[in-house]
Amino acid sequence: MDTKRPTNLITIVRSERNSLSFAMLFVSILFLGLHALGGNAYHLDNSCTDTQKDFLRQGFLNAFNMIQYANLAWATPNPAQQQLKQWLFGPDDVVTRIRAGQTLGGLDRIAGYGELDTAAGIQRDDIRVYCNTDRLKFKAGVKPKFYDPDSQELLSITDTGGIMCSGSLAYAWVPTNPAMPSIIQICPWFLEYGMEKDPQFQSRIEPGIVARLALKLDEYITGKWYTPIDLFGLFDKVLVHEMTHTRAGMETHDVNGFGGYGWKACRKLSTVREPVTSGIMGPERNADTFALFVSACNLQSRGAMVQENGTFTLPPATKAKARRAMAPNPSALRARRPF
Ligand SMILES: *[C@@H]1O[C@H](CO)[C@@H](O)[C@H](O)[C@H]1NC(C)=O
Repeated sequence: MDTKRPTNLITIVRSERNSLSFAMLFVSILFLGLHALGGNAYHLDNSCTDTQKDFLRQGFLNAFNMIQYANLAWATPNPAQQQLKQWLFGPDDVVTRIRAGQTLGGLDRIAGYGELDTAAGIQRDDIRVYCNTDRLKFKAGVKPKFYDPDSQELLSITDTGGIMCSGSLAYAWVPTNPAMPSIIQICPWFLEYGMEKDPQFQSRIEPGIVARLALKLDEYITGKWYTPIDLFGLFDKVLVHEMTHTRAGMETHDVNGFGGYGWKACRKLSTVREPVTSGIMGPERNADTFALFVSACNLQSRGAMVQENGTFTLPPATKAKARRAMAPNPSALRARRPF
């Protein structure tokens, strides 16, 4: 068994610049006019089964609800929310405040997205969600690549695990072609894992895809690396994380690669303030900082006390659930639904 730690749990993949297909651009512009009337949307690709689509819809709904709490907290924070802002984004600073506000505003827009039934007419600020990587075609070469016929782009294998999902939970990319929607790839094994932990979907899982990788996740989440808040509502949090990578989410990064994930890493990053021209990015550009802020605001809105060390306590009525959520083992993932 491969016990090597994946280098990236949640990856953003940048596509290579390639020539724009004018035919597709024309078709997209044609649809843009029609679709714009209905606002933006997310589309669950047919690589997702009906059961997976149901699960993802629930995930999007949860994420959208959480995002609304976070935007309220950002705009008019109470003392606990103010404290949370400071823990994750550091001392108040104009640049940080403005840029973080843009991504939170973008998330707020996404939270208003409807669902688009077909990919026809999908537009640039929309999000297309895939449940497997079957469409990606391997192209051998000096620098091997994968071709994505939907976005019509070549993806470099800078992170094979990311592109083929062997070392990722999910990832996102924004095609270079401005007519193409942002893409969220849910890794099949993580989708199966998330569904298996959800009582509503447990009995509806199709026979195992990649259980081996799920074991890897168990290693991770049982390790010392993560704090309880990282585990809480993991699937929904990953969706928020990926949403911030999209065009509408202002294309955040995984700052410091793997070092940008998780509460402890985000706390460290929170005080980074570098000149804009240096290219060094702080918390206002880091995807997981936002995912954690959104998740923690949601916890607080439900009466939880979030602590500086990434632990949290829930009010007495929800103690039983809290114990499950805080247990340092995979059953923690069962508490994905807001209580
Ligand atoms: C986290 O902080 C809280 C409050 O200060 C404390 O009660 C708790 O013991 C700490 N937990 C860990 C694991 O450090």
